Amino acid sequence: MSVAGSLLLLPGDGIGPEVMRQVRRVIDWMARRRGIEFAIEEGLVGGAAIDAQGTPLADATMEKAQAADAVIFGAVGGAKWEGLGFDMRPEAGLLRLRKEMDLFANLRPAVVFDALVDASTLKPDVVRGLDLMIIRELTGGVYFGEPRGISDIGKGQRRGINTQVYTTAEIHRVARVAFELARKRGNKVCSVEKHNVMESGLLWKEEVIALHQKEYQDVELSHMLADACAMQLVRNPRQFDVIVTDNLFGDMLSDEAAMLTGSIGMLPSASLGAPDANGKRKALYEPVHGSAPDIAGRDIANPIAMLLSFGMALRWSFDLHAEADLLERAVQNVLKTGMRTADIMQPGMARCSTSVMADTIMREMDKLAA
Ligand code: IPM
Ligand code: MG
Repeated sequence: MSVAGSLLLLPGDGIGPEVMRQVRRVIDWMARRRGIEFAIEEGLVGGAAIDAQGTPLADATMEKAQAADAVIFGAVGGAKWEGLGFDMRPEAGLLRLRKEMDLFANLRPAVVFDALVDASTLKPDVVRGLDLMIIRELTGGVYFGEPRGISDIGKGQRRGINTQVYTTAEIHRVARVAFELARKRGNKVCSVEKHNVMESGLLWKEEVIALHQKEYQDVELSHMLADACAMQLVRNPRQFDVIVTDNLFGDMLSDEAAMLTGSIGMLPSASLGAPDANGKRKALYEPVHGSAPDIAGRDIANPIAMLLSFGMALRWSFDLHAEADLLERAVQNVLKTGMRTADIMQPGMARCSTSVMADTIMREMDKLAA
């Protein structure tokens, strides 16, 4: 048995715990069938942490996250914690992890599996074969810019303020990830901003061009305004290979891209920091879907985004490419058999629960590994 590394599991709220349970089972599978073990810790984040520890992310949990080779994150949030101040909301736990671990590059792939081509709300001809990657800047921009806040400006009026801000270094480091990744895929990067109205967008565009000129001329670079990109994503999504964009536009465009694939319940993501002296990056893996409180605890959530997020961890943090391939292939094969959780259910298919979907995927992994 070899120990591949350490994992911190943070299931969080809503459907987080029930989809994380399926990851645990895949981790057990890896030990049993492949002799690959992980040192595992589990912690609280989001509303679960607020209830138990009075804060969306305890310092001790933050320390464990910094020390782990990879953090596997479920989802946070729910009606119970609405209305709290921004620092005390469940989301603050996730934002703290991103910021303090300096996870500036968020990789959000949108892939349409052949078996699900009819599950998309778009015409099959538009989405068939889609394979694009959104790289979202994750530690800057309006999410963290100062000044921010709500102030009283007298006469019963208030003023809310957030700041969109980017520096050369922040733009270069995320653009670099996009160019490097494009070289391993379709060799195309589309940089997305609003340089027609925002100085930070103009700087974004100019700095991406400067870096491209200097180091990445072999990669095809194009530029698009964020609103036009939102339109092109539903008009002709296959024109894109890698999209690189800021924190807020990336938040919105990645939800849109997720729906091209049929369900947001299908999409994994990886958030990566800068490589250290040994080339190792801090990393957090999470499904793009949220905590979905409306369906929590009913064993009907789609576990695939969470499982594929673990697959991204196998690939990006542990170089376990064969195991990641195995998991991804098992998911595709199971979808081909017509098994569907509620979110991707279609006429003539077999509806199944969260746990049965995971059971079936693991049985398929057994077959593939035999
Ligand atoms: C996401 C989510 C988060 C974000 C929320 C939960 C803070 O929507 O990861 O896309 O806005 O970044
Ligand atoms: Mg989002």
